[in-house]
Amino acid sequence: MAKLGVNVDHIATLRQARRGKFPDPVYAAGICERAGCGSIVAHLREDRRHINDNDVKRFKKEVKTRFNLEMSIAPAIVDIACRVKPHQATLVPEKRQELTTEGGLDIAENKNKIKKAVGRLSGAGIEVSLFIDPDIRQIKAAPLVGAKIVELHTGRYADSKTALQKGGELKKIVKAAYFAKSLGLTVCAGHGLDYDNVRPIAAISGIYELNIGYSIICRSVFAGLEAAVRQMLELVK
Ligand code: PXP
Repeated sequence: MAKLGVNVDHIATLRQARRGKFPDPVYAAGICERAGCGSIVAHLREDRRHINDNDVKRFKKEVKTRFNLEMSIAPAIVDIACRVKPHQATLVPEKRQELTTEGGLDIAENKNKIKKAVGRLSGAGIEVSLFIDPDIRQIKAAPLVGAKIVELHTGRYADSKTALQKGGELKKIVKAAYFAKSLGLTVCAGHGLDYDNVRPIAAISGIYELNIGYSIICRSVFAGLEAAVRQMLELVK
């Protein structure tokens, strides 16, 4: 069975709506761990739109499973990761204007920069994963820059508009997962997975971990809203 990494970025998105102290993503991480997740994922973006530097330090201290820091290869972010030393770093392409990560890294195009970041992070004792499209060319390039883990981008599968398109995207992910395994890579997958589309991805044999955020945080709002209203009513009474 694949493990589940829970991305808690959007707990921090809610906190940033008021720039206050809650909801606290580190407290959320503890709840995810009690529920059985295998790791906590958080993305320290260059614009700090949700997770901030202090959160990252606290995750490292408090997370009991594994802390997977999602990050760009910007040298200033790599510096922070090398200081904090999360268990794992997942390297992603990052654009300021994007709402979320829009695709995988182009390893061939950015070979030297990625190799340098992987070398620095590995040298600090951090396992490194590369977020890539389910594309044979990118998978072949991953070991050449020193990565032992890849995370296959499931966003195009998740965003497919027709069953035909979805089937085609699923085939690409299956093929990519087998090929990456055959090279000895640890294979993860994620992006855009939700309660309706996760099963075919979870059924791919050999996938080590699925990283899921937005759908879980959205579901938690409704899973918890009734109790939250009841608790406030008790106080009002
Ligand atoms: N994996 C990577 C590399 C991501 O960038 C993200 C989004 O932060 C996720 C997984 C989780 O995606 P989602 O929030 O759509 O579940």
